[in-house]
Formats: sequence, structure tokens, C-alpha cells
Amino acid sequence: MTNIITKLAATAAITLAMATPSIAANPAIKARQALMQIYVFNISQLGAMAKGVVAYDSAAATAAANNLLAAATMDQSAMWPQGTDNEAMFGETAALPAIWTTYPAVAEKGKALVEVAGAMAAVAGTDLASLQGAMGALGGGCGGCHKQFRQPKD
Ligand code: HEC
Repeated sequence: MTNIITKLAATAAITLAMATPSIAANPAIKARQALMQIYVFNISQLGAMAKGVVAYDSAAATAAANNLLAAATMDQSAMWPQGTDNEAMFGETAALPAIWTTYPAVAEKGKALVEVAGAMAAVAGTDLASLQGAMGALGGGCGGCHKQFRQPKD
């Protein structure tokens, strides 16, 4: 009798655990993904001007470049805790385990982004040609890290 009750209780516990579809999204993962959204929002504005999709506007370009630089210089250490890679938290994150296993390689990529974002912020307000001249390196600052540390999209 006791055995059956214990078994039933155990089954109930397992069922409960499985019924909870997903634990509330990890706040650190949410924060770093939100930061990436700030990056892409601002670089998109610069990119649209660089490509002539949107007319060049010195003030808007300066604002976008300054925002990008400010976001890139934010201290992100608490946003990348151990155990939040895409193998441990499948479906919640695209962060590859290499971020942690090859550390500090990822930090070098972060520094590289700050450099190219700084270069962009220094010239974005000058004129369209200067903005265009800084665009390739800025995009490379994003792509260089994604290639190594972000799970590719299918
Ligand atoms: C130091 C490495 C690094 C740099 C530099 C970097 N990223 Fe990322 N990015 C990542 C990683 C890792 C992820 C996956 C994060 C996750 O899902 O937890 C990511 C995810 C993203 C996402 C998806 C966010 C979401 O909502 O899931 C976007 C958009 C993005 N990055 C844009 C950019 C742009 C634009 C830049 C350059 C201005 C940039 N990133 C620079 C590492 C980087």
C-alpha cells in the first residue's frame, strides 16, 4: 500500500514537472538579447542611410552611432552567466558553449565592437561618405562574434 502511494506521488510529481511548459525566461538571457536588439535597431538606421534607403541626417546618424557605442560599452558580465548556453538551455538562447569554454576570446570580440563603434560615432555626423566608410568595419564587429559564438540560423 505504502509503495503504491509513494509511486503515485512520484508519478504525480513528474507529471506536474512536465506540465509546466517552460520556466520563465532566464532574465540574463533576456537582457543580453534585448541589448542585441538595441544594437540592431541602431545599426539598421546607420545602414539605411549608408545604402541610401533613408536620406542622410547628421543628427540622426550621430544619435544612432552614440547609442550603439553606449550599448556596446555596457558592462555585460552579469548577462552571460555560466550554464546559459544553447546546449543547457535549448530553445531559449543561441549562445554557443564556446563563449565559456574559450573565454576570454568572446571578450576580445566585445572589445573589437567597442572600437569600431567608437570609430563610427566619431564620424557618423560628419557626412554620408564618412558614415559609409565606417560601416563595413562596424558590421564586421557584429559578424565576427556571431560567426564564432552564435548558433547559426537554419
Ligand atoms: C561579443 C559577441 C557579440 C557581438 C560583438 C555582437 N553579438 Fe549579437 N549576439 C551574440 C550572441 C552570443 C547572440 C545570441 C544571444 C542569445 O541568444 O542568448 C547574439 C544575438 C544577436 C541578435 C538576436 C537577439 C535576440 O533577440 O535573440 C541580434 C539581433 C544581434 N545579436 C545583433 C547584433 C548586432 C547588430 C551587433 C553589432 C552591432 C552584434 N549583435 C554584436 C554575440 C555578439
